Amino acid sequence: MDMSRYLEQKRLDVDRFLDQVIPAEKREPTTLHEAMRYSVFAGGKRVRPILAIAAAEAVGTPPRSVLAIASSLELIHTYSLIHDDLPAMDNDDYRRGKLTNHKVYGEAMAILAGDALLTLAFELCSRTDLMDDLEPQRQVQIIYELAVGSGHLGMVGGQVLDIQAEHQDIDLTALQRIHAYKTGMLIRAAVRMGAVAASAGAEQLQHLTGFAEDIGLAFQIADDVLNVTGTREQLGKNAMTDAQRGKKTYPTFYGVDGARALADQCVRRAIERLSSFDGKADALRELARYITERQN
Ligand code: IPE
Ligand code: IPE
Ligand code: MG
Ligand code: MG
Repeated sequence: MDMSRYLEQKRLDVDRFLDQVIPAEKREPTTLHEAMRYSVFAGGKRVRPILAIAAAEAVGTPPRSVLAIASSLELIHTYSLIHDDLPAMDNDDYRRGKLTNHKVYGEAMAILAGDALLTLAFELCSRTDLMDDLEPQRQVQIIYELAVGSGHLGMVGGQVLDIQAEHQDIDLTALQRIHAYKTGMLIRAAVRMGAVAASAGAEQLQHLTGFAEDIGLAFQIADDVLNVTGTREQLGKNAMTDAQRGKKTYPTFYGVDGARALADQCVRRAIERLSSFDGKADALRELARYITERQN
């Protein structure tokens, strides 16, 4: 399978859809719509939407609605990045190769653009016209997964743990917990939402959830490693920021090579969990590899 072509094709599909559903910049309130579009179209990898699509493909034929479901994950993710970069949180100036949202639009607008992206995600998944090929019960389950993955016991909860751990002497169990929530839960939601959309059975969903948890950890370990080894040009955001903020990460505990080896181990375990799936899960297998091989 030509993975770079697959990624590019899916990225285009997601971007085209997002362009249709996010109001045009000229629509009132214009600054809000401009700020929303600024961060969404700044060039993210679209890993979460593509995972949702690939999970649906692994189970069967993805329904048309999978694109709305996938795009809702990118809206949540982009909102989380805008807020994560705010001065009250990580205080970062660069993201996706551009100035951060608050650097361009100011803090108030960045907060509101994030809020609007968050709510738009739920609006998309609730729209009956976009989801008319799903049974209502599945649609509700998808909305539920999105809420759990994003909220107080998901990404937001993880962000809280992450901030509270700054300059603290946390142990490895605490670090694992932070990673599982701040990054893992939205990735878990992505895979589960795609699987539910394609009518996965209970056993399939269980295997895919295990897969998602493993690659979620691998993804954040890779992010920790890149924070040490990458450059701003490569990453599109400042490097070495974890050390500057007194954050203990996987490289702190294991060194860069040790952290890389652990991420690879997570990916291998994730792929093993897909042993009962046929060739339709190949994109998902390749995505797992891409997570640790990526350079940004
Ligand atoms: C960065 O996420 C923040 C984390 C949760 C680790 P991505 O690496 O997916 O960032 P984009 O979307 O490609 O910019
Ligand atoms: C971001 O985590 C995770 C989110 C939930 C937004 P980090 O703060 O570690 O990631 P970067 O380095 O800013 O992308
Ligand atoms: Mg952060
Ligand atoms: Mg950050």
